[in-house]
Amino acid sequence: MTARIIDGKAIAAELRARVADEVARVKRDHQLTPGLAVVLVGHDPASEVYVRSKHTQTQAAGMASFEHKLPEDVSQADLLALIARLNRDPMVHGILVQLPLPKSLHTETIINAIDPAKDVDGLHPNNAGRLAGGLAALSPCTPLGCIILTKSVHASLEGMNAIVIGRSNLVGRPLVQLLLNENATVTIAHSRSRDLPKLCAQADLVYAAVGRPEMVRGDWLKPGATVIDVGINRIPVPGGKPKLVGDVAFQEALNVAGAITPVPGGVGQMTVACLLVNTLRAACAIAG
Ligand code: GUN
Repeated sequence: MTARIIDGKAIAAELRARVADEVARVKRDHQLTPGLAVVLVGHDPASEVYVRSKHTQTQAAGMASFEHKLPEDVSQADLLALIARLNRDPMVHGILVQLPLPKSLHTETIINAIDPAKDVDGLHPNNAGRLAGGLAALSPCTPLGCIILTKSVHASLEGMNAIVIGRSNLVGRPLVQLLLNENATVTIAHSRSRDLPKLCAQADLVYAAVGRPEMVRGDWLKPGATVIDVGINRIPVPGGKPKLVGDVAFQEALNVAGAITPVPGGVGQMTVACLLVNTLRAACAIAG
């Protein structure tokens, strides 16, 4: 069997087009232009690429994009003052502080300072708590993207066995909550879990979000499983450009899985598309 490749690029493009249509409608009918502010501290090359892509795609969807680039040595007080200003700014409906932050800044304090109504990353404890309680909340973008990709294969996830490998606040933990909301049966695994192959063998849905290149092997998978690979790992190639690989051994998995996301071209494309969805949602909620 050769797995169906889940085309994250095409699904993300479709979602962005739907957001752009809806933005055009709220502009026309409600004179509302959703606005997203992205804050980047320092010069992490990967973060600079993500932020540029967020800016371009926000504008392409017809929204306002406000970029704030701060020096690596910005003080915590100055960053908090910027967030307070963005919280009050009526043109800004979504605020995203690109992570990771330099070590001199206290990430939790910064995230907690964002108005939960503008927290399009879904990382504020109010939103994380509401999600965990099964209440309506702004939810983190990558896990939202994982659910949309899964639903491109399965109309309903009810009763399916899912395993989430990874327990980060940005991906693993919120993904578990979203899967529970879909009535899946969820196993939460992580770097200290025993016998991961055995746990994976039971799973109809496998989500790999550990940040370890090609850790999940083909022979761990239940035949026909749907595999969503969140990992983006840069592997050095002697004398060449680094190669991007996921957390799943793709070629091996291809022969066992029923459907699988590629890296690149899978989950990565969905994160920014879902950020646009969250910004539109926040704008509509704030405007009433
Ligand atoms: N860094 C990598 N992914 C993300 C994300 O989804 N949100 C933020 N704020 N930072 C990130």
